[in-house]
Amino acid sequence: MTIQWFPGHMAKARRQVTEKLKLIDIVFELVDARIPMSSRNPMIDEIVSSKPRIVLLNKADKADDAITKQWLEFFKEKGIPALAIDAQTGTGLKQITALSKVLLKEKFDKMASKGIKPRAIRALIIGIPNVGKSTLINRLAKKNITKTGDRPGVTTAQQWVKVGQELELLDTPGILWPKFEDQLVGFKLATTGAIKDAILNLQEVTVFALNFLKEHYPKRLMGRFHLDELPDEVVPLFDEIGKKRGCIMPGGYIDYDKTSELVLREIRADKLGRLSFETPKQFIEQ
Ligand code: G4P
Repeated sequence: MTIQWFPGHMAKARRQVTEKLKLIDIVFELVDARIPMSSRNPMIDEIVSSKPRIVLLNKADKADDAITKQWLEFFKEKGIPALAIDAQTGTGLKQITALSKVLLKEKFDKMASKGIKPRAIRALIIGIPNVGKSTLINRLAKKNITKTGDRPGVTTAQQWVKVGQELELLDTPGILWPKFEDQLVGFKLATTGAIKDAILNLQEVTVFALNFLKEHYPKRLMGRFHLDELPDEVVPLFDEIGKKRGCIMPGGYIDYDKTSELVLREIRADKLGRLSFETPKQFIEQ
């Protein structure tokens, strides 16, 4: 993550989103399908409460399909409209306009009954850094809009980008901070690559990731690193992976930093397959 979020930045980011909300009919809240709760802004419900919202589970191509289905079911049960999408290839994007029309039918019917000329639906994309906001705007707009960068302090003139005839997007997304005061959330964000490694201790993130994989995806972990069995403790597991991949320092010691970089790089590059790092069940239990 390129922003250091200080209280002043947060207040400013919130103000900017609130200003943008005045211009639009609907919010598209982008979350990471692998960690739909950890990749949300902790105050999002309150911040966007004045507008209808669709939760878009982005990067669904990287997430465990079965768990994404559980999340879609979870949101459905809560009455929150949600779609699984892949902003990079465009999978699932067609449904966004269709669902927006359904959610805004009453508003637009009312406008029509008052004689107001029909217009396109106006939407704002909101999400934490790196969740895919720019990618989604570019994909929907079918052109390359210059990335403004994750700078909550930067104000630019608002412009609309057309998505077909029926939808218009604000070209600059709303950027909000994640819930990084929660350590587990931080580990999940770091494991999926949403936050820069330097912010968190790489070895601690890897310990989290290996423990998680050991519990939830043991076969994938064993397969990827050619392990015959999984040790109960995480340190011997770390050692075994380091040894297998030649992450050894002079004197024969395991290079834990190098092993950590390797493990995280491979997880993020989907070398262990499509992974999800939280489920609705875990979220409810917490
Ligand atoms: P942001 O505006 O919310 O900050 O995010 P941005 O669009 O820049 O996307 C962050 C990274 O996520 C980009 O990778 C982008 O290609 C990738 N991405 C966005 N949507 C999807 C998706 O649906 N599926 C997949 N697989 N990737 C997606 P990047 O430029 O390579 O950056 P990074 O991965 O090195 O951070």
